Amino acid sequence: MTDYLTGFGNHFATEAVPGALPIGRNSPQRPAFGLYAEQLSGTAFTAPRHENRRSWLYRLRPSAEHPPYTRYQGAPRFAPGTDDAPLPPNRLRWSPIDAPTEPTDLIDGITTMLANRDPADLEGVAVHLYAANRDMTERAFVNADGELLFLPQAGRLTLLTELGRIDVAPGEIALVPRGVRFRALLPDGAASGYIAENHGALFRLPDLGPIGANGLANPRDFETPVAWFEDIDAPFTLVQKALGSLWITTLDHSPLDVVAWHGNVAPWRYDLARFNTIGTVSFDHPDPSIFTLLTSPSDVPGRANADIVIFPPRWMVAEDTFRPPWFHRNVMSEAMGLITGAYDAKADGFAPGGLSLHNLMAGHGPDVASWRAASEADLQPRKIADTMAFMVESCWPYRPTRFALEHALPDYDAAWAGFPKATLPGS
Ligand SMILES: [Fe+2]
Repeated sequence: MTDYLTGFGNHFATEAVPGALPIGRNSPQRPAFGLYAEQLSGTAFTAPRHENRRSWLYRLRPSAEHPPYTRYQGAPRFAPGTDDAPLPPNRLRWSPIDAPTEPTDLIDGITTMLANRDPADLEGVAVHLYAANRDMTERAFVNADGELLFLPQAGRLTLLTELGRIDVAPGEIALVPRGVRFRALLPDGAASGYIAENHGALFRLPDLGPIGANGLANPRDFETPVAWFEDIDAPFTLVQKALGSLWITTLDHSPLDVVAWHGNVAPWRYDLARFNTIGTVSFDHPDPSIFTLLTSPSDVPGRANADIVIFPPRWMVAEDTFRPPWFHRNVMSEAMGLITGAYDAKADGFAPGGLSLHNLMAGHGPDVASWRAASEADLQPRKIADTMAFMVESCWPYRPTRFALEHALPDYDAAWAGFPKATLPGS
């Protein structure tokens, strides 16, 4: 059972051993117990104060202590780069990836599906699927390329991070900041889900504008673990993703040895059931941005490097309104996943654990069956229950990996075939 501290981006202070955390300074001449003080930055030193993020870690050994990295030969579907052949402007959809048949831990079980921009640009986002059946033992992972947002679809994860232990189940999400080492345990023996990897500005809560001071994801519902560490003197490997490729080094101890820390770079978890979903009480429905949980802004105001948007259970009450998502073509690019249930624009064919891509200007919306049902529906108040879809929306068009292109489902376009033509007066 882990204790959690609450709040989004707060300045936390926590110690697993009383007296480990210095008081009134960050880097005393001799930290308590001979611990090593280390700063982990989340933003440039000179970022404006309201955006400035960093934490101070007090650990058994400095993270600098490791031999050179060499190329990692595992995880063949993780970060292979995207296919650079001309990309047809087709809509794409995928079934869930198969569960592994060999012992496979979280890192080796990651399949990169979509990415945009180069991690070295400090912009862009990648979408991965994972399917694993084995704990990460004697090894840890660290991502230099960005923060990792886990969206479990089946099976719980226990994320043992440098800054604490996080338990996360389907219906919850968890974030591991850039540069934070962690390993993952699978309490249910197997786990699968999604990872959104953000190379750009750190995820933050969206501005609320006229919604007011409360609503959508509320800051106090984000839970950051208290300090926790493991004191293990045994061989460990550390896999690092850096500049889009995987590397490995060896340690003679667990790197999860931070005894105390303070600051505002920290992992967290969030229960999607706590999202305060807002929608129309008259007619039409707002743009799906009303469901934004997190946003990573780009340099252009209002144009997100990445938005995490969820489609949770909610009441539909609009009068004289086509209630599912309307037909649209979007200048933003949409990668969509389904955690549970059915998505109201695609009643069939989009399975939990699957993925779809509607890139820049791809025409999409309800399929024929969903359109017909919604057009003919008796518009009583109705609850959409037992569903949780999400979207990773980016201003940068995605490119699929070769694996993704080779495994895209055929005939997705058929979802939009067979619409009856409108009938004009006198025709
Ligand atoms: Fe869309």
